[in-house]
Amino acid sequence: MGIRFLSTGAGLPEKIITNADLEKIVDTSDEWITERTGIKERRMLEESEATSDIALRAARQAIDTAGLQPDDIDLIVVTTCTPDHLFPSVACLVQKGLGISQKIAFDVSAACSGFLYGLACVEGMIEKGLAKTALLIGADALTRFTDWKDRGTCVLFGDGAGALVIQACEGPGDLLAIHLGSDGDSSHILTIPGGGSKHPLGQIDNVDKYPPFIKMDGKEVFKFAVLRMIESSMTALKKCGKTTDDLKLLIPHQANLRIIDAIAKRLKLSHDKVFRNVHKYGNMSAATTIIALDEAVRSGQLQRGELAELIAFGAGLTWGAAVVRW
Ligand code: ACO
Repeated sequence: MGIRFLSTGAGLPEKIITNADLEKIVDTSDEWITERTGIKERRMLEESEATSDIALRAARQAIDTAGLQPDDIDLIVVTTCTPDHLFPSVACLVQKGLGISQKIAFDVSAACSGFLYGLACVEGMIEKGLAKTALLIGADALTRFTDWKDRGTCVLFGDGAGALVIQACEGPGDLLAIHLGSDGDSSHILTIPGGGSKHPLGQIDNVDKYPPFIKMDGKEVFKFAVLRMIESSMTALKKCGKTTDDLKLLIPHQANLRIIDAIAKRLKLSHDKVFRNVHKYGNMSAATTIIALDEAVRSGQLQRGELAELIAFGAGLTWGAAVVRW
């Protein structure tokens, strides 16, 4: 038994924050942000919205595109590091929003690599017979955990959600190979120090020491991202006996255009074989890879039967790659 991919969907907040908007709140410039990251604008939740709202929007679009009804879904996995609450899970809130009951629903956390970790979970659960039709959602709202006084991080992140409908099938299916990795020893280079059980928000008397905001060693993350995504890409391709020549599209995590270009160069991939939308959204964490897949499919850059490889890295540290047939 394998899994096949039926459809994708996206849920993006309407509010756009441009580089010019950021110039008004921190000492930065459109020129610096564009040159160092490739980002021109990003999306941001309205005050009244939360991660589950955009996750639900992505879910509805993916279900409609597949020609299914919400009740056809028997498993909901949401990959997020910015849930509405510590509990209930975003997956259970999406289930409620879809108006369906008696399903399996839970969240997975692997930061920006979350979507690939979630994909492995869904594949395993379908193979074990726990579900037949699954909804895998990547949804994050990192702007809620951004220090708007820190120019080193606040220019990088945006909010968004993407969804993929996955179904059990006979034969090998559409997921040709998957590779995942993690390295907790380097967890300190990318972290949100406060707001968890170690330094609970209500009890932090030194918010400067344990801020509930993203703290990052950008240069270290950059080096790690390039190295691990290349390794993971090659490992996943080897696992299924493919090479980069077999790929129609490489869909990398969209954190920084320079990271994407460095990977494309090392893998010797021409410009048209590497998907890019970081200029429109910045880094949306677990939502990034699935929104990129959704846009690649809707724009016709990836067509039925063609091969793509999704690669990602994130806090943890975590990373992964999946070779898929669309
Ligand atoms: N505007 C203007 N100047 C800035 C800005 C800004 N927004 N941010 C930093 N600078 C300044 C710095 O203060 C520094 O000034 P100095 O030389 O006077 O000290 C100078 O620009 C250079 O700063 P660097 O940090 O060395 O710049 P770098 O070229 O490394 O780019 C960046 C920084 C864009 C953050 C890069 O390191 C990067 O993209 N790293 C990867 C980050 C990433 O991918 N994070 C994903 C996280 S994934 C997840 O799971 C959440």
